[in-house]
Order: sequence, then structure tokens, then C-alpha cells
Amino acid sequence: MDIRTDRSNEKRRPSAADASLAQFVADVQYYLTQTPRQLPSRYFYDELGSALFEAICRLPWYRITRSEHALLAAHGDAILRHLDPLSAIVELGSGSGEKLKTILEAGGRRAGGLDVHLVDLSASALELSSRVLAPLDGVRASAHRLSYEEGLREATRAISGSGRTLVLFLGSNIGNFDPPAADAFMRGLRGTLAGGDLLLVGADLVKPERELLLAYDDPLGVTAAFNRNLLVRINRELAADFAVERFAHRAVWNAAESRVEMHLVARSAQQVHVGAAQLDLRFDEGEAIWTESSYKYEPEQIARMIEATGFRTTSQWLDPADRFALTLAEAV
Ligand code: AVI
Repeated sequence: MDIRTDRSNEKRRPSAADASLAQFVADVQYYLTQTPRQLPSRYFYDELGSALFEAICRLPWYRITRSEHALLAAHGDAILRHLDPLSAIVELGSGSGEKLKTILEAGGRRAGGLDVHLVDLSASALELSSRVLAPLDGVRASAHRLSYEEGLREATRAISGSGRTLVLFLGSNIGNFDPPAADAFMRGLRGTLAGGDLLLVGADLVKPERELLLAYDDPLGVTAAFNRNLLVRINRELAADFAVERFAHRAVWNAAESRVEMHLVARSAQQVHVGAAQLDLRFDEGEAIWTESSYKYEPEQIARMIEATGFRTTSQWLDPADRFALTLAEAV
């Protein structure tokens, strides 16, 4: 496989790293001073955070990855058949690259001579996914270390050919947006695509609370480490002094909002200084930082959400045991 890192925008954005650090500082300043205190979950994915997330995906209690993999392996061929003629595949949040590899392998001969665009904020995820796709013949991968929106725009500018584009938004990444943000994101996506292009969304379904809590507060403590690593990252990158061991991981199921929430809870009263953000924070014992929401859906809700933004659902595949759905929709 031929791996190309898109450097076409380096001249226009000579200080992309500075810009993203400035954004991190601004977000920490803003979100940590809200009531309740919050941190955006996109900052989980530094190198260690990405590795911990890969470990989560292998935990017996976190079934999203395995369930989605089984659906992609079983239906990858049917999915690619919808696309004929296919120009390119763009994966938003490519992670390990395993999901895309599964579809391409299931689609067999159709994968020959295909451009794939990997969009992820994590450099380590892009390296890993590029390596995972490397053995596939005829697949030309380009890596875009950008947000979903910017990455999709850059990828669509690079796509030539008159065939259709398939956008993959898998792993229940949609669940990390609250409903207004999911709607805005889908509309933006639709605006970037042409009529006839396709979108494949993988989304986790509502299941018994006990199962959800085990998935987000596993007995090995990997999810707790993933959550607390956010403080390790802020200490390192923003010159902060969070005493990481004095924050506990908490996962709760919010049935009214249909989401699992993750929090970091101060085990005792404490002061925290974030040097780069010129912030001095006082935490009371039991005070929490809300770090993530993972929304869980019913199948028809996913179709409605997608259809409200300019797509038509063409197929939906369900895993009834693990309660996971893959939904394929066409831009109209
Ligand atoms: C990436 N995202 C869909 C995961 C989720 O399930 O919300 C992140 C995660 N958080 C805790 N475990 C996994």
C-alpha cells in the first residue's frame, strides 16, 4: 500500500501544533470553570490515551468493537455493493484501521485500486491505521491529522473520479456528541458530500444498566486509567499540578438522557494550578469533572437522526445480542 501524509496545507498553517495547543488551553480555561466542571472528551486521545482506548476495545465488558466488527465482516460486501462505482472511502476517527480493513476484506475484489482517507486527531492512531491497511493490495491511504470536519473537507477536495464516496463514522463515535451537536455535525457532513454519496454509521444501542456500567467501569480499571489520563495530559501539556491519585473514576447511566456519563471525582478538597491557562481551581471533596457522554440509541432513533439532516436510510443491520446497529444512508 502507498501511504501518503497530506502536507498540502503546511504552508498555510505553519503552526498547527501551536494552534491546537492554544485551543486546548482555551477549552480547559472555559470548560473547567463551568458548572458543573467539564472537559471535552476529544482530549482523551494523546498517545497513551489512544493506547488505553485500544485496550478498552479488547475488554470482554466493552462489546462495541467486537459487535461492530462482526457486522462489518458479515455485511461489508453488501455495503460496498451499494456503492458501485466507488471512488473513495473516508473514515472519520480511523482509530486502529481495523474496521476499514474488515470492510475491504469482506468486499474482496471491489477493493482494488481504491483511495482511502484516514481522518483522526491522534498521530499514533494514524500511524497504526496506516500500518494495519498496508498489507492490502491496491489501497492508497492518505492520513489527515485534523478534526472530523476539516479532515472530511480536505479529503473530499483530494478525491477525483466520478464514483461515489463512502464516509465511515463507526465505533459509536456519534454517541460522544450531544443531540444538538450530532445534528449539526450530520448537517455539516451532508453539506460536504454530493447527492448519492453514502454514510455508514455504527452506533451502540440502549441495553441493561448493569452491562453499560461494566463497559464504562471495567473490573480491570482500564477505563478508569483512560479517564484519569486526561489529567496526566493536562499536567504535562499545560503545566498543571493535578494530583491524579486524588481523583476517582465514576461512570453513571443517565436514563433520562439515554447516556453513560464519565466523571472524575475529587476524593478530597484540593487546589489545582493550571499554569498555561493561568487557572487556580479549588475542588471540594466529591466535586466532579464531567469528561464524557456516550449516548445509547434505539435503531429507529438513529435512522430518524440521520434522515433529519438530508440522508435517506437504505439499510440497517442489527446485532440483537450485543445491541449494536450499523446504518447505511444515502445523501439525497
Ligand atoms: C470513542 N467512543 C465511542 C468511546 C465510547 O464508548 O464512548 C470512548 C470510550 N469511553 C469510555 N470507554 C470508551
